[in-house]
Amino acid sequence: MNITIVGTGYVGLVTGTTLAELGNTVYCVDIDFKKVEQMKQGIVPIYEPGLEEMFLRNIQAQRLFFTTDLREALNESEVIYLALPTPPGEDGSADLSYVLSVATQIGEMLTEYKIIVNKSTVPVGTADKVRETISVHTNIEFDVVSNPEFLREGFAVEDSMNPARVIVGTESERAQEIMAKIYQPFTNTGIPIIFMDEKSSELTKYAANSFLAVKITFMNEIANYCEKVGADVDKVRLGMGSDDRIGHRFLFPGIGYGGSCFPKDVKALIKSGKQEGFDFQILEATEEVNKNQKVILVSEIEKFFGDLAGKKIALWGLAFKANTDDIREASSLDNIKILLEKGAKITAYDAIAEDNVRRVLGDQISYAPDMYSALQDADCLLIATEWSEFKNPNFDLMASKMNQKVIFDGRNMFALEQVEDSGFHYKSIGRRT
Ligand code: UGA
Repeated sequence: MNITIVGTGYVGLVTGTTLAELGNTVYCVDIDFKKVEQMKQGIVPIYEPGLEEMFLRNIQAQRLFFTTDLREALNESEVIYLALPTPPGEDGSADLSYVLSVATQIGEMLTEYKIIVNKSTVPVGTADKVRETISVHTNIEFDVVSNPEFLREGFAVEDSMNPARVIVGTESERAQEIMAKIYQPFTNTGIPIIFMDEKSSELTKYAANSFLAVKITFMNEIANYCEKVGADVDKVRLGMGSDDRIGHRFLFPGIGYGGSCFPKDVKALIKSGKQEGFDFQILEATEEVNKNQKVILVSEIEKFFGDLAGKKIALWGLAFKANTDDIREASSLDNIKILLEKGAKITAYDAIAEDNVRRVLGDQISYAPDMYSALQDADCLLIATEWSEFKNPNFDLMASKMNQKVIFDGRNMFALEQVEDSGFHYKSIGRRT
């Protein structure tokens, strides 16, 4: 099948590449001329494990094309996926201007039946808005389908090629048939495709992300309480997770959730609720708890050192989580901001996300070329991202570099036994110290 993807951000690029890998001919459209030229030359604009290989393979096989010309792509395709940004507006609601502007253009360009698929995370009712917007400009028949994406950054290729489920929101039989054909390679291997109405599909995405944000935040509160009563969150987590109604995943406490999705989607669902006169109390509490959780170790650092002016802090990890260069809403940034305000000096190390932080913070902090150099003369180490390379460090080498043997671990990287013999003062989240 011939497919157009409008927008080559994380979701668009990964979806386009995956659909090409499944044998479709895919035209990726973006307004960023420079980015399109680079992609044509085989340069992948994002860091995502496994993506480059698949991307190059499909360009070579002439199944994956890049263009700035929406009309050209549209004319070649039966199905048009919209993978456009929906950033939070000032009031927290999702800004649909990119989506609706492309819908207008599609309306003006339609010459025959097409399916327009909303792949971006969009509030309930957006399929209706896209339909209305297109209809203003055309009498040609078309369908609008909601098909939310559930991929995780860092596992995008894996998640796209092997999703837990495919959600398709449409009540048009014609559209259902075509969407079923696109996802046939998945259904053939037993991955369920769940058809529903558009609004339920749109809400499924917000509900899933918000639920996961609540789950993490609940566990963070349990972890904080563990510290108060002398319990160990690792034990509690194992005990709880063994009930398969709860499950082991997404129960890892730490310095809060970040990224481009959970914070934005929780905010947007709260806002959509308010527009209907509905209060999502649990989500409001989640936002508040998470805001405090992100910087919970700053007060521990202060408790340990007193005045932070002139203290040298080594920071391991800048990305909002491991396996991505994404720093949007990263806890590292909240910690850096407050620590700098308190007069501390920070030397950070993150092999993948450093460039992105440099663009935002410049030389407000120093950057180390490797994890051990970051520790030179440091009064303590703060860990903000769970990169694998931090998991089993040489504690003797660490101690030889640092001024003081002190670790504040926001991602519970080490088993307590691991640190016990090293002589480090070790503070993690929700565990006995
Ligand atoms: C999330 C969802 O997991 C995807 O299903 C969804 O498609 C995506 O948002 C989206 O809406 O596009 P992502 O933002 O890539 O994916 O990251 P996650 O792996 O879900 O992690 C989110 C945050 O939660 C990170 O800051 C991570 O450190 C934190 N987290 C996760 C925890 O603190 N504890 C956990 O146990 C799990």
